[in-house]
Amino acid sequence: MRITVIGTGYLGAVHAVCMAQAGHEVLGLDMDAAKIDALSAGRAPFFEPGLPELLGEGLDSGRLSFTTDPAEAAAFGEVHFLCVGTPQQPGSNAADLRYLHAAVEALAPHLHRPCLVVGKSTVPVGTAAVLAAKLAELAPVGAEAELAWNPEFLREGFAVEDTLRPDRLVVGVTGEHAEAVLREVYAPVLALGTPWISTDLATAELVKTAANSFLATKISFINAMAEICDATGANVTTLADAIGHDARIGRRFLDAGLGFGGGCLPKDIRAFHARAQELGVGSALDFLSHVDTINLRQRTRTVEAARELLGGEFAGRRVTVLGVTFKPDSDDIRDSPSLHVARMIAAEGAEVRVHDPEGLANAKSAHPELECVESVEDACAGADLLLHLTPWRQYRELDPAEVATWVRAPRLLDGRNALDAPRWAAAGWTLRLLGKPAPAPAS
Ligand SMILES: NC(=O)c1ccc[n+]([C@@H]2O[C@H](COP(=O)([O-])OP(=O)(O)OC[C@H]3O[C@@H](n4cnc5c(N)ncnc54)[C@H](O)[C@@H]3O)[C@@H](O)[C@H]2O)c1
Repeated sequence: MRITVIGTGYLGAVHAVCMAQAGHEVLGLDMDAAKIDALSAGRAPFFEPGLPELLGEGLDSGRLSFTTDPAEAAAFGEVHFLCVGTPQQPGSNAADLRYLHAAVEALAPHLHRPCLVVGKSTVPVGTAAVLAAKLAELAPVGAEAELAWNPEFLREGFAVEDTLRPDRLVVGVTGEHAEAVLREVYAPVLALGTPWISTDLATAELVKTAANSFLATKISFINAMAEICDATGANVTTLADAIGHDARIGRRFLDAGLGFGGGCLPKDIRAFHARAQELGVGSALDFLSHVDTINLRQRTRTVEAARELLGGEFAGRRVTVLGVTFKPDSDDIRDSPSLHVARMIAAEGAEVRVHDPEGLANAKSAHPELECVESVEDACAGADLLLHLTPWRQYRELDPAEVATWVRAPRLLDGRNALDAPRWAAAGWTLRLLGKPAPAPAS
């Protein structure tokens, strides 16, 4: 099939290469000419495992190309996927839908033959119905430019795998034709036995925001338990293991620590609550503002614990932050909890050095005030305190005895409870963990 992907960011670029991999002819469109130039030259504009290889294969096959011209996209595609950003509005919790509206306004006037426009961006419920009306009004082909919604559940770091082998496909449609077209688009994925859920537009939109709200709630639940554990000397990891054995609860997403961030969960739960308030049912989702508050509190708790480890003062101390991305295996620093903590500590007068395997370039351009250091050893040199805040594998592989020779004082706060605490303690480190007692350092 001839497919366009409008918006080639983290979601769209991966979707475009995976659709080409699935055998379709794909044209990616973005208004960011630098991104389109990079993609056309075979350079992935961000770090995502597996993406560069598939991008190269797609370009070489001749089935994948890129443009900045909406008229070219309209002429090319039978199916147009909308993958533009839906960030939080400045000064409000609601989603900013201007990019989606702009994308439809740019595409629709060029639609002269029947086609299917498929939203993949995460949106407040009701958005698809509004866009469907706008599309029919602006497209010369009228209502034969049909709209469907197909929310995306990929995880950065596993985006290629999640797109080629998702755990389910959800489509919101208004008729059988749209569903048939989408079944054809996803035929190779359906052939793997992937569950297919076809529903109305509103339910499809809600599936995504409900899923993210549930995941965010699970993380904040265990972080709330971590606060109780800290107050009582209990161990949140053992608690999570024990409750996780109950299949109704499950162990995944129950790792206590610095909490969630990134370009999705925080803004999605806020936008969901804001939309519920518009609908007059805000109180049904009031719990999401508690989920948000608990999550943000982990950042201040981490800063407090770090201050305590340093004897009550940051001024004049050197602090090394390991990890600036919001999660490992990504270079995405949007609403990154580790970067937030680094900036709070720098604002209190510490000399903060940050390291990250993939996110340093983004951190440097967004926060020139932070000292970004390329090697872990240089980042740790002379440190009074290490903060392990993004759980990259590289940090779990560090030798605590060797790292102790780099720093001024062997103090470590593991904000992800992911390092081998007994091993670090045995190498003489004074440790602080979130939600559980730390082993005492070997003297
Ligand atoms: N990143 C994820 O892991 C993920 C997962 C699932 C869903 N989503 C959702 O997907 C959407 C996109 O997220 P993202 O992380 O890819 O964002 P992003 O900021 O990386 O990408 C958005 C892209 O859209 C482009 N764009 C904006 N307006 C445009 C227009 N009018 N025409 C063409 N291109 C335009 C931007 O230049 C940018 O390249 C959001 O709604 C997000 O919530 C993201």
